[in-house]
Parts: sequence; C-alpha cells; structure tokens
Amino acid sequence: MTDNDHSQHDEPSRSPHDRDPEQPSGGNGTRWTTRPETPADAEAVHAVNAAAFPTDAEAHLVDALRGDPQAWLPGLSCLAEAPDGSVAAYALLTRCLVGGVPALALAPVATAPEHQRRGAGQAVVRAVLDAARLRAEPLVLVLGHPGYYPRFGFVPASRYGIRPGFEVPDEAMMALVLDDSGPVPQGTIQYPAAFGI
Ligand SMILES: CC(C)(COP(=O)(O)OP(=O)(O)OC[C@H]1O[C@@H](n2cnc3c(N)ncnc32)[C@H](O)[C@@H]1OP(=O)(O)O)[C@@H](O)C(=O)NCCC(=O)NCCS
Repeated sequence: MTDNDHSQHDEPSRSPHDRDPEQPSGGNGTRWTTRPETPADAEAVHAVNAAAFPTDAEAHLVDALRGDPQAWLPGLSCLAEAPDGSVAAYALLTRCLVGGVPALALAPVATAPEHQRRGAGQAVVRAVLDAARLRAEPLVLVLGHPGYYPRFGFVPASRYGIRPGFEVPDEAMMALVLDDSGPVPQGTIQYPAAFGI
C-alpha cells in the first residue's frame, strides 16, 4: 500500500498538487475513490473496458498484459470506484521501451459509459500517474485523444524525439516527463508484445 491508495480525486482539478481531497467539487460533486486493482477486481476491470470501447479488444489486452511479467508492474493498474463500490473507471501503465530505455505506456484508459464525463477518468489517470511518480518512473507515453491528455501535462512526443513505430497523427502520440533530472530517452517506442504492434 502507498500514500496514494484510497485517495479521493475530485473533478475538476488541475494537478496532483492543487486538489483538496476533502472538498468534492465539479459538475455534480462526485467524489471518486481511486486505488490499485486487486486480484478480485479483474472481472470488473474487464467489464469496464469491454463496455467503454466499441469492441472487447482492450478488455482482452488488459488480461494479456496482466499475464506478462515483463510488462505488468504491480500498483500501476488503477481504478476509480463509484460511491456504491463498483468500478467506474480504469487506467493502466505497463512497461515499454523508448530507444531501448524503460518507460511506461498509458493504455487503456476507460470509464464505464454510465459514469462518463463526471471526472472519473481524470481521477484514475491522476492516480496512476501519481503511483508512477512514487516509483520514480521518469516517462509516460500515451496514444490518445489530443483534447484529453494535455490536462495531465502530456505534450506531443515528437518534441522529445520520441516516435511510434507506426503511422499516427503527430498530436495523438503524447509524452509526459515525470522526472526531468536526467536526459529524456529518444527513439522509437517498443510496446509490450500484447499490443501486437
Ligand atoms: C475518454 C474517457 C476515458 C474520458 O473519461 P471520462 O470519465 O468520461 O472523462 P472525465 O469526466 O474525466 O473528463 C471529462 C473531459 O474529458 C473530455 N473527453 C471525454 N471524452 C473525450 C474524448 N473521447 N475525446 C476528447 N475529450 C474527451 C470531455 O470533453 C471533458 O473535457 P472538459 O473537462 O474540457 O470539459 C472516457 O470517455 C472513455 O472511456 N471513452 C471510451 C474509451 C476511450 O476512448 N478511452 C480513451 C482512449 S485514448
């Protein structure tokens, strides 16, 4: 367990440093409890991913990643709980390489359809990034909506000389440097095998 466990994330908040965990706020005042997944959560996590995406590919991807000890990092699979204790949102960081140097890939991020646009996604992304910071992980990559991830500090990965090994719009491949005390790795992203990239 870490300081990050069972934290309360409110919407909206701008950084992990300026939220007040005791003050629910935002559109409907929903307060999301975030925590790392446990073995008992696997089925519910599968269900949230299957419901959020058009197919169950992402749900199966998570299951495959969970079985890959080179990719899976305990504590970096996080969920946001709805007030009734059900899984409302999910975010996963797995081990990838950038130019041969270890980094993290953020994928998937999913909010159950009935809980979307109420801050659960942002809460769980902040939680998993906080967990990565606690592990002193320096770099996170995400391929996603350019309108969503900049709020967490992501910028186009190309600014750092980081590129995917496949064709995507430049602004969709984003990077977040969590620790800039050393050089940021450059080069091509190598995803875990389960991504099939
Ligand atoms: C994308 C997703 C994870 C966002 O989670 P959420 O809990 O619905 O979103 P939040 O309430 O935390 O955040 C709401 C904000 O996200 C934005 N947002 C939601 N879905 C978005 C999308 N598909 N593209 C861009 N922005 C999106 C909203 O416009 C809103 O922005 P604002 O704060 O500027 O008004 C969720 O909608 C989802 O699971 N979608 C289907 C699966 C998916 O596309 N996953 C992401 C893959 S990159």
